[in-house]
Amino acid sequence: MSKRTVYLDNAATTPVLDEVLEEMLPYMSARYGNPSSLHSIGRDAKAALDKARERICNALNIHGSIIFTSGATEANNLAIKGFAYRMLRDGFGRDDLLVVVSSIEHESVLEPCRALEKEGLNVSYLPADRDGIVRPESLEHTLSSYKYKSALVSVMLANNEVGTIQRLKEIADVAHRHGAFVHSDAAQAIGKVKVDARELAVDMLTISAHKVYGPKGVGALCISDGVRLEPILHGGGHEYGLRSGTQNVPAIVGLGKVAELIPRFISLYEGHVRQLRDRLIKGILEIPYTRLNGHAEMRLANNAHISFLGISGEDLIIKLDEHGIAASTGSACSTLKQKESNVLRAMGLSREEINGSLRLTLGIQNDEQDVDYTLNVMADVVRELRRVSPYSKYRS
Ligand SMILES: Cc1ncc(COP(=O)(O)O)c(C=O)c1O
Repeated sequence: MSKRTVYLDNAATTPVLDEVLEEMLPYMSARYGNPSSLHSIGRDAKAALDKARERICNALNIHGSIIFTSGATEANNLAIKGFAYRMLRDGFGRDDLLVVVSSIEHESVLEPCRALEKEGLNVSYLPADRDGIVRPESLEHTLSSYKYKSALVSVMLANNEVGTIQRLKEIADVAHRHGAFVHSDAAQAIGKVKVDARELAVDMLTISAHKVYGPKGVGALCISDGVRLEPILHGGGHEYGLRSGTQNVPAIVGLGKVAELIPRFISLYEGHVRQLRDRLIKGILEIPYTRLNGHAEMRLANNAHISFLGISGEDLIIKLDEHGIAASTGSACSTLKQKESNVLRAMGLSREEINGSLRLTLGIQNDEQDVDYTLNVMADVVRELRRVSPYSKYRS
């Protein structure tokens, strides 16, 4: 079998599509205006931002504002810190506020929450079950047991590690019944599942371009009318005063194009990608001592998250890479911190299942040969690693 390059880390990032790049390129050269300038060159750039906002609103059924940011990380920070600081500015005391998040959120949600906790605010973490599902009942319980005057609930639409899709509408309904606002990090969900902000009844939605064939370093916080935030980046008052700094026009144009392409992406994920993913999971689970993590059905169509007992996920990644296959153990960000996945821990996986976990995330560019090649390599590599593993019971 000849070596090939197989990129199976599409949850970390995706390649920029040619048609996205094509729309961006003029804004890096000929159409270089600053959207805040009053002259026609500036107004041309401003029109590009307006078009991107409109495309995002149409694609996600947003009735409100789009605040462009440097990505999902910043959008999540703005949603959580921006909400809390605004409430404090409006005269609420620290004890009047409550932030509720799921324990399987991305670090860009959890870290701002931890920062708020250090400042004396109440933060409550919702549990997830073994499949990565956050139960609306546990939110009901939390909101009933706290005394607060203003609350924000933040639950991601789809998990970046195990791909589990949440019952977000039910969660939002519970939150609203208790008078809480709802934010959802949809960075992994857009382009893969239908995201309709109105139907989901969320007040704020985070998106990012580079998970869906757009450029890195751009995202947005979509805010429904009536949600008030405090800026966390101060300056010239761009983006309705919520995010100062000259906008990254080419990248925003790319994000707008991505939004326009969402229906096409969804049909590719639902058809082509899901078929490949199912073939991949089926093949891998034929290897002894393997387990699929995350919910069997309520999961992103491109996600295969598997625990290989008796070996380490990191060793597996290195071996797969030697064969041209790019995989991951979890979120691209947490690998920088070299720590055990908070998501898998919160789902109650054993130490051994966490150590041996591997995330394979397909994209629209993958094909059957990629999957078959990966399955062949995987079987050999796992056998080889288990041969030298101290856990002899998994040797075959
Ligand atoms: C669910 C989720 N939220 C947020 C982020 C951060 O996105 P960005 O790289 O755009 O800051 C990621 C990326 O890994 C993600 O998967």
